[in-house]
Amino acid sequence: MPIQIGILGLGTVGTGVVKILQQNAEAIQTRTHCEINIKGILDRDLHREREVSGDFILTDQPEKILQDPEIDIIVEVMGGIEPARTFILEAFQHGKHVVTANKDLLALHGHELLDAADKAGKELHFEASVGGGIPIIATLKESLVANRITALIGIINGTTNYILTAMADQGRDYAEVLAEAQQLGYAEADPSSDVDGLDAARKLAILSSIAFNSRVALNDVFVEGISRITREDLAYAAELGCTIKLLAIAKHQEEGIEVRVHPAILPLTHPLASVNGVYNAIFVIGDAVGETMYYGRGAGSLPTGSAIVSDVMRIVNNIQANSTSPSNCTCYLELPLKAASD
Ligand code: NAP
Ligand code: HSE
Repeated sequence: MPIQIGILGLGTVGTGVVKILQQNAEAIQTRTHCEINIKGILDRDLHREREVSGDFILTDQPEKILQDPEIDIIVEVMGGIEPARTFILEAFQHGKHVVTANKDLLALHGHELLDAADKAGKELHFEASVGGGIPIIATLKESLVANRITALIGIINGTTNYILTAMADQGRDYAEVLAEAQQLGYAEADPSSDVDGLDAARKLAILSSIAFNSRVALNDVFVEGISRITREDLAYAAELGCTIKLLAIAKHQEEGIEVRVHPAILPLTHPLASVNGVYNAIFVIGDAVGETMYYGRGAGSLPTGSAIVSDVMRIVNNIQANSTSPSNCTCYLELPLKAASD
C-alpha cells in the first residue's frame, strides 16, 4: 500500500511538488522503500490550465482532502494565515502529518502549530519556509545541533535580491524587474511582503527561534525594505567598490538577541556581495564549528518543491521506522537470504 498525500494549493510550489514526485518517483521509492501517491489536491480554481496532470482528485472542497482517512500526509502550499492555519490544525485532528512552506503562518502561529502536532503525536516540517531549496532548517536542527549559534547573517529573500541584482548590473527599472520576479513565481501573492522586508523578517524569526532555541516573534524584528533604494544608490555604491543587499541579521549576545532586516552596503569582496539573482545565502556562526555558509536558489517552483518533497520523505521514513505493526508500504529492502549463523 502506498503512502497517500494530499496537497493544499496547486500554484507555483504545489506544481513543483507534483512534478518532483512524478519525475523522481523511482528514486524516491528506492530511498523510502515506499510508493508515495498524490491522492488529492485542493485549489480554488478547478478550470485553470495546469502544467501538471495525474491520477489525483482536484477539488475545491477541503474536507475531501482533510477528512480522507487514506491520506497520511498533508502538504500545505496555499499560503496566507486563514484558512491555512485552520486546515493544518484540522489535519492534525484527523491524524495526518503536515509539511508546509508557509512562513507567514509559522512566524505568527508556529508555536501553536508545533504544540498541536505534538498533542496529536504527528510531525510538522517546514524546510521550504526559509531559503527555498537550501536545507537550512535541517542544518540548524540537526547538523549544527552541537553548537551554541552566535550569529546568522544572510540574504533570505529571492525577489529582492533578484531586483537589486538587475538594478545594479543592468541598470534596470525597479517596477519592471519586480513584475518579472512575479512572473517567474518568486514573489509572494502580495509582493509588498518581499519589497518591504516582511518576508525576510518572517524567515529571520523562524531561523533565529530555532538557532537560539528561543521564541523570536515577528514583532521583535526591526524591518526596512528596499523600496527606497534607487538605481543611483546602486551606482554610487559601485563607484565605492560596493553593492547593496537586503540583509537579515540575528545575533545572540550576552545582552540578548538582536534581529534586523535592512539594506546594507557591502564591499564587493564580501562573500554575500556575489550572491546574485534569486540566490540566497546564509552565514551561520557556531561556537564549535566556526563560520559556515549555505547557498542556493531561494525561491521558485522546483527548488522549493525539493525542500517539501524531502520533508515528505523524512516523514515517510519516520512512519516506517516507528511502525510497530507490519508496514503499510511494500518493502524494497533486500533481506538476507540466509541467517548469519547458517
Ligand atoms: P501561489 O502560486 O499563489 O499558489 C497558491 C495556490 O493555492 C493558488 O493556486 C491559490 O489559488 C490556491 N489557494 C490559495 N488559497 C486557497 C484557498 N483558500 N482554497 C483553495 N485554494 C487556495 O503561491 P506559491 O508561490 O505556490 O506559494 C505557496 C506557499 O509557499 C506560500 O506560503 C509561500 O509563501 C510559500 N513559498 C513560496 C515560494 C516560492 O518561490 N513561490 C518559496 C518558498 C515558500 P488562487 O491562485 O486562486 O489564489
Ligand atoms: N517570495 C519569497 C522570496 C519566496 O522571494 O524569497 C521564497 O520564500
